[in-house]
Amino acid sequence: MAQSSEIRDQRSVRRLIAAAGFAVLLFTAGCRQDMQDQPKMVPQRGTEFFADHRGARPQVLNTVARGQLHEDSYFYTGVVVGANGYREEQNLMPFPVTLQVLQRGQERFNIYCTPCHSRVGNGLGEIVERGYKPAANLHDQVRTAQPISHYFYVMTHGYGAMPDYSAQLTPEDRWAVAAYIRALQLSQAATAQDVPAGVQVQELKAIAEAKGHPEYAQPWALPATAVQAYPADAKQGTPGMAPAYPADPKISIPASKPAPAAAK
Ligand code: HEC
Repeated sequence: MAQSSEIRDQRSVRRLIAAAGFAVLLFTAGCRQDMQDQPKMVPQRGTEFFADHRGARPQVLNTVARGQLHEDSYFYTGVVVGANGYREEQNLMPFPVTLQVLQRGQERFNIYCTPCHSRVGNGLGEIVERGYKPAANLHDQVRTAQPISHYFYVMTHGYGAMPDYSAQLTPEDRWAVAAYIRALQLSQAATAQDVPAGVQVQELKAIAEAKGHPEYAQPWALPATAVQAYPADAKQGTPGMAPAYPADPKISIPASKPAPAAAK
């Protein structure tokens, strides 16, 4: 009997020690020194460290952050500031258009623009067929008369119901897409005379049949233009921009800046 009560006492002492140990563990865990307590600058909060008590430091005068020297502002903005102080769009590519540039533009256009503008750029993409506001028909008189940097500007800032694509497309890509839009416009306005000698021209339907593609590959028609559907669109230009370019039904091919001379 005496022996069994001794065992019980020993057990409860052990339990007590274990419980105390656990409590100490909990206590010390709560006391750890966190990195969040180290001295540091908190955004929008003052500091005693600098004489002017500003935690956020002003930019160092006359310095440019790495990768932010946007010397060629036309390349990054698509506008130049004219004599009248207006920002003006230009029918000028900031770099020469090569086949590679056009292919890149075609690829990016097909990824990012066709959902609304369709592959041929008539503004009747899948999303529009499902009820979105008709996207601009890139072949109508208003759009073909716009200088090429207007397309760059629209991709950079968005336009009306169209979101901007500056996050998805680098400036290089936006210019490539703009160049491709011009190629699309030329292709859709092409006549038999534009076809090189010896090249055969066929109806889309005939090609589809020959290749065994589905029958619905029909030639597309220009829609009864978006200009009529949305009279406000007929106004030319972009808010805040130099007003109205002369409406030129011909598609003007932009000049491009010469390639920078190769470093010797
Ligand atoms: C989500 C649908 C959508 C996508 C994707 C889209 N657009 Fe648009 N876009 C529109 C709509 C809608 C308009 C007409 C805007 C309005 O009138 O509110 C428009 C208008 C335009 C215009 C004409 C602007 C003017 O001055 O009339 C251009 C150029 C254009 N888009 C180019 C592009 C390019 C290039 C891309 C791909 C990078 C693109 N869009 C992707 C919906 C889209």
